[in-house]
Amino acid sequence: MGVEKFQTFILISTISTLICICHGLFTPKDNYLINCGSQSNSTVMGRVFISDKLSSNLLTSPKEILASQTANSDIYSTARVFTGVSSYKFSVTARGRHWVRLHFDPFDYQTYQMNTAKFSVSSQTHVLLSDFTIKKSSRVVKEYSLNITTDDLILTFTPSSNSFAFVNAIEVISIPETLITSSPPPRLVGSGTFQQSLSSQALETVHRVNMGGSLVAANNDTLTRTWLPDSTFLLEKNLATSVTKLATVNYVPGYATEETAPRTVYGTCTQMNSVAAQDPSSNFNVTWEFEVDPGFQYFLRFHFCDIVSLALNQLYFNLYVDSMLAVMDVDLSTYVDNTLAGAYNMDFVTPSPKGSNKIRVSIGPSNVHTDYPNAIVNGLEIMKMNNSKGQLSTGTFVAPGGSTVKKKNLGLIVGATVGPLLGLVLLGCCFVLCKKRKRSRRGQDGHSKSWMPFSINGTSVGSKGSNGTTLMSITTNANYRIPFAAVKDATNNFDESRNIGVGGFGKVYKGELNDGTRVAVKRGNPKSQQGLAEFRTEIEMLSQFRHRHLVSLIGYCDENSEMILIYEYMENGTVKSHLYGSGLPSLTWKQRLEICIGAARGLHYLHTGDSKPVIHRDVKSANILLDENFMAKVADFGLSKTGPELDQTHVSTAVKGSFGYLDPEYFRRQQLTDKSDVYSFGVVLFEVLCARPVIDPTLPREMVNLAEWAMKWQKKGQLDQIIDQSLRGNIRPDSLRKFAETGEKCLADYGVDRPSMGDVLWNLEYALQLQEAVVDDGGEPEENSTNMIGELPTQINDFSQGDTSVNVPGTAGRFEESSIDDLSGVSMSKVFSQLVKSEGR
Ligand SMILES: *[C@@H]1O[C@H](CO)[C@@H](O)[C@H](O)[C@H]1NC(C)=O
Ligand SMILES: *[C@@H]1O[C@H](CO)[C@@H](O)[C@H](O)[C@H]1NC(C)=O
Ligand SMILES: *[C@@H]1O[C@H](CO)[C@@H](O)[C@H](O)[C@H]1NC(C)=O
Repeated sequence: MGVEKFQTFILISTISTLICICHGLFTPKDNYLINCGSQSNSTVMGRVFISDKLSSNLLTSPKEILASQTANSDIYSTARVFTGVSSYKFSVTARGRHWVRLHFDPFDYQTYQMNTAKFSVSSQTHVLLSDFTIKKSSRVVKEYSLNITTDDLILTFTPSSNSFAFVNAIEVISIPETLITSSPPPRLVGSGTFQQSLSSQALETVHRVNMGGSLVAANNDTLTRTWLPDSTFLLEKNLATSVTKLATVNYVPGYATEETAPRTVYGTCTQMNSVAAQDPSSNFNVTWEFEVDPGFQYFLRFHFCDIVSLALNQLYFNLYVDSMLAVMDVDLSTYVDNTLAGAYNMDFVTPSPKGSNKIRVSIGPSNVHTDYPNAIVNGLEIMKMNNSKGQLSTGTFVAPGGSTVKKKNLGLIVGATVGPLLGLVLLGCCFVLCKKRKRSRRGQDGHSKSWMPFSINGTSVGSKGSNGTTLMSITTNANYRIPFAAVKDATNNFDESRNIGVGGFGKVYKGELNDGTRVAVKRGNPKSQQGLAEFRTEIEMLSQFRHRHLVSLIGYCDENSEMILIYEYMENGTVKSHLYGSGLPSLTWKQRLEICIGAARGLHYLHTGDSKPVIHRDVKSANILLDENFMAKVADFGLSKTGPELDQTHVSTAVKGSFGYLDPEYFRRQQLTDKSDVYSFGVVLFEVLCARPVIDPTLPREMVNLAEWAMKWQKKGQLDQIIDQSLRGNIRPDSLRKFAETGEKCLADYGVDRPSMGDVLWNLEYALQLQEAVVDDGGEPEENSTNMIGELPTQINDFSQGDTSVNVPGTAGRFEESSIDDLSGVSMSKVFSQLVKSEGR
C-alpha cells in the first residue's frame, strides 16, 4: 500500500515536472525532504518534510528513538537519536550532483543531551562530518553537494565512542548538471587553472552571501539555497555601500542562469562607498573576511552583474583572494556578450590547503583609469573541498568505505504515506514559482545589447541606448578654446627642447598646463590648406566624442590664425614605435591583445556611437597611442567623415588614407563605409603580430606588402612562421588562430564580407581569453609548454631595421609616396601623433 502511494507521488511529481519544464524551471528529479524522528509531516516555508517514520526511505538503526520536545510540528522540534551505527538509504533516480542538507538543533530528550552528542556522518564515498558536536544550543544546517554515481545514497551516522548521534531533518535534492562543471575549469587563485575534474569532488557550503542584499531564504531561491547578507563579513563597513536594481539583471543564454543564482542575488551588489568614490583619485579596497576550517582547499564562486554602470566599459576593477591578485582589470561588460548587467559567475580554487582559518576577499579599482573608480561584487559562495582522503572533516573517524553499511540488516522498512496532498502542494509551489519567473524574465531586453559608452566626468552623455541615463548637452566648442598666451606658457614659448615630433601639419610639443596637466600640443603650419580642413574636422570630432579609447582633446587655439590642438599627453607614444624600428622593448602577446582590444573599442564606439556614426579613415598603428599604462587610444581624426545615414550605405569621397592600410574596395569604388576602417584595422592586427612595417620596399617583391604576405602564410596555415620572433613560444596556438582568423576576415576583398568592429572586438576578447586559459593574469608564460608555438629558426622575420615606409618607389602604383606620415621611427619613440595624412591620388 505504501508503495502504491509512493507511485502516486512519483506520478504527480512527474506531472509537475512536465508542467515546469515548459516554463524552463528546474525541477529536481530526486527531492527528499525528511522530518527525522517525527510521527508526522511538517511544512517549512511551503516545503513539506515527510516523517521518516512514515516515509519510504530505508532507515537502518539498532534502536528506534524518536525524540520530540514539544507538540508543535516544526522540523526542529523532533529528532532521531542513534545509539549505534545507523543509516538512511535514498534511492537515486537521477545520478549526478545532489544537495545533501543535514539539519541539527540540539535539545534535551530524556537522558540524551544533544549538545553533548559526538558523531560522524559519511556517504559511501566521502566523510561529511567527523567527531562532530554542536556545543552551543544553536541551530546548524550543513549543506553538501555530492555527485552521486550509484543507485543509492547511503548516509551513515556513526556515534563516537560512548556517545550518540542525532539529526532533525535531511534533504537530498537533485541539482542541475550545469551548476558545477569543470568547463571552463575553475582558475587557481594566483595562477593557472584547477586541473582535476570536479566530478568526484564533494563540496560543503561554508558561506553563501548575497552582497549588498538581504537574506534570500530557501523558498525564494531557485535551488532552495539560503543566502546571507554580507554586512557581518565586511571588515570596514564605512568603505562600502549597497545597490539594488533587480530589474536590470540580464540572464544571457550561455552564461549564468537563474539557477546559478536568483535575481535577488544578481540584482544587488556591494560597491565602493559612493561618497568616497566620487573622488576620482580614491583608491582603496573593500574587504570581506570569512572563517573557514584550515587544512582544506576551497572552491569560490563569485557572482557578478554590473548593475551600477550606465554603459558598457565603465567599470574596471581588481579582485583579490587572500591578498593574491585573482583577476585584474575585470570589465564585466565584455564577459557576457557585451551585455550591460549580464549575470556572470567566476569560479576559483585556492591553490593549496588553507594554513589559516580565514579567507579574505577584496575588490578595488584597477589601474585602467575611469572617471570614478569603483568595484563591485554581487554574490559569493565559498565551498570546502574534500581532501585527498575524500574527507570534508578530519577527526579520528575513518570512512566506513560502504562495506559495513551494506552488510547491515536493512530491517526497518517504513511505509510511504507521501500522499496526493504533497503532490498538490508541490504543484501549487511550482505554479507560483513558474508565474514569478515568467514575470521577471529578462525585463530589460530592449537596451541590453546596445553599445553606447560615452561619459564626461562620470555623467553619461547622450547614451541613447540606456533608459534612465542622464542626458546632458554636449560641451560646445567654445569651452575648448584656450588663449594663445596659455599655450605659450605651457610649452615655454614652443621651446625646441620640448619638441617631440614633426609632421607636415607642423610640430608637436610636450607641455604642461597651469594646473599641472601634461599635454601634447600640435601647432599647425598656417600655410597648409589641407591643415585648416583637418584642424576643423579634428576639433569637431574630438569635442563631440569622449571615450576611454579615444584620445581626448583638451582644447584648441585659433587666435592670430594659429591652428593649435591640445591633447592629453600619451606617455608611451604610438603603438608602431613599440613594434619595430625604435629599439623599445617588445610588448608581450597579452599587451598586444589588450592594445588591439582597446583600439577596437574606440573604433567600435566611433562606428556605432551616439547620433551619427563616424568613419575614421586613417586607422594605422601610428594613430593608436598608448598612455602610461599602455592603454590604447585612437587618435587623429583629421580625416574622419561622418558615416552614412540610415538610408545610404556609403559616403562618396576622394580616396584618402595611408598607403599599406588602404581598403582596396574603397580605392576601387571611392565609396567609404565603416568596413574601410575594418580593413585598415586588419592590417594593424598583422602588423602587431609580425612587428614589421606594412610596406617595406627593401624586401623581396612578394614580401613588400604585409597584408598580402601575411594572407599568403595564413592561407597556408603557417602564419606562425612569420610572427614576431619575440612572441615565439609565448602565444597559445588557439589564441594565435583566433587572432589570425579575425585579421583575415577584416582583410576580405569586399566590405560586406568583413566583420563589424563589434565582431572584431568580440573575437579579440576571445583570443585574449584563449591565451589566458594557460598563461595566467600578469604571470609569466609557461615556458617549454608544448601548448606554445615552438621556437622556429628563422631569418624570414628579421625586421628590426628602421621604418622605410616613407618612400615606396615602384611599388606604389598610383601612390607616389605616402608622405611623411610614418615618422614614428627610430628617432621618435615619443612621437605623440602625426598631423599629416598621406593623400591618395
Ligand atoms: C521571499 O518570499 C516571501 C514569501 O515567501 C516574500 O514575501 C518576500 O517578498 C520574498 N523576498 C524576496 C526578496 O523576494
Ligand atoms: C588591495 O588589496 C591587495 C591585496 O591585499 C593589495 O595588493 C592592494 O595594494 C590593495 N589596494 C589598495 C588600494 O589598498
Ligand atoms: C576529493 O575526493 C576525491 C575522491 O572522492 C578525490 O579524487 C579528489 O582528489 C579529492 N579532492 C582533493 C582536492 O583532494
